[in-house]
Amino acid sequence: MSVSDLAVDGGQPVLDRTTAYPWPKQRSEWSERVLRQLESGKLSVYDRSGVVAEFEDAWAAAHGTEFSLVTNSGTAALHSAFYGIGLGPGDEVLCPTYTFFATAASLFQLGALPVLADCRPDGSFDTGAAEQLVTDRTKAIVITHMWGLPCDMDEVVAFAERHGLDLVEDCSHAHGATYRGRPVGTFGAAGAWSLQTQKLIAAGEGGVLATRSREVYDRAQLLGHFNKRAMKEMDAAGPLYPYSVTGLGLKYRAHPLGVAFAVGQIAELDSWIKGKQGFAEEIARLFTRIAGITPLTLSTAERTSAHYALLFDVDPALVPGGRDWLVAACNAEGLDDVDIPKATSPLHTLHLFQNPISPVTTYDRTCVRTAFPIADRLAARTFKISVPCAPVGYEEEDAGYLAAVEAVARKLADHLSGAARPAPAPSTEAVGTEAAGTGASSAEGVR
Ligand SMILES: Cc1ncc(COP(=O)(O)O)c(C=O)c1O
Repeated sequence: MSVSDLAVDGGQPVLDRTTAYPWPKQRSEWSERVLRQLESGKLSVYDRSGVVAEFEDAWAAAHGTEFSLVTNSGTAALHSAFYGIGLGPGDEVLCPTYTFFATAASLFQLGALPVLADCRPDGSFDTGAAEQLVTDRTKAIVITHMWGLPCDMDEVVAFAERHGLDLVEDCSHAHGATYRGRPVGTFGAAGAWSLQTQKLIAAGEGGVLATRSREVYDRAQLLGHFNKRAMKEMDAAGPLYPYSVTGLGLKYRAHPLGVAFAVGQIAELDSWIKGKQGFAEEIARLFTRIAGITPLTLSTAERTSAHYALLFDVDPALVPGGRDWLVAACNAEGLDDVDIPKATSPLHTLHLFQNPISPVTTYDRTCVRTAFPIADRLAARTFKISVPCAPVGYEEEDAGYLAAVEAVARKLADHLSGAARPAPAPSTEAVGTEAAGTGASSAEGVR
């Protein structure tokens, strides 16, 4: 194959239309459930009843937790978890720098301070890096199961216990992921999931918290589920019960139409996770035909990834122009789903974390106290791609997507193993606004 064959060099794209894995899936049962909710006129669910209770019961059952609380975003679920464990001004929380900023941003609302730690080469939490950051103010640790791959929970739990820290898991990429067979979100004081459109369980906007602690659950309800729900659900003997009628000034109730769309998805989650494993292996096999490309987030014996996305490292010594060129080349061929995780720019590069402010306190310390060589390397060298989940009825769509990935990976592998090509233009990518995982445009179309 000659240099000019690549679309990025002006050649003909290998795909005849732009390809990204369509998400969320659609099922007539889910749409009918939305319609029934709409026709019922119940467009607010004030207490723990109806479709909200149904979702929470299914979520708690799937995770073996006592309590579950649906919120209007993952951010709200995290905020509720942080308030739930009692964080406030003066407290420090160990937090990965390699995550989406919403993992930590609500800490500023409480006057607590995230203290950033570097990650492992696969993007998971590095307790070794966190060790040196523990101070007499450290009260908790929040981790993210990045791209769906569980952190090493034996290590994380041992670390939290050794230092007497509450653990919150941000599972927004990791619905249905397991560590040694146990669902993520159940290892600490609370787990929090986003249900935003791109997430594996998608309500459009929404979130959910799970906990075994009555105290965390009560405090979480107080933060955003005042009046009917809090009054009925909170422990009436608890010290905060008198506040249940008003709450504390926030409202985190979810829209029932989003919950109605999402509730039926829970029953399919396990089969999606199974389906993703084979597709991830296959996509890894296709891209590793290109010398210098290494998958970073495949499942291991202990860690079953939800494969929100599959992350690859690109070695610029073997792929001239490195990651930015490779992504531009895939996109030019029509494979839009290959992209740079811009929204997950490490937190230490973002203004808020470099210059922390809070509505409720003044900080006398910083979030950034160390260097982050591994996170910086991931930010500079990795790309991600969606992984199909083999939903029943979508076999053709999944096969078409895989064929598109194969055609593009093969063309690039052939090109790179053959002719040299001109130097790429420098990247001008900016930080985005969403932690995108799955795309949502057209399906396959291989020339
Ligand atoms: C890792 C992570 N945490 C938290 C969030 C916040 O969720 P939401 O957008 O539902 O508030 C997201 C959403 O993109 C995320 O990717």
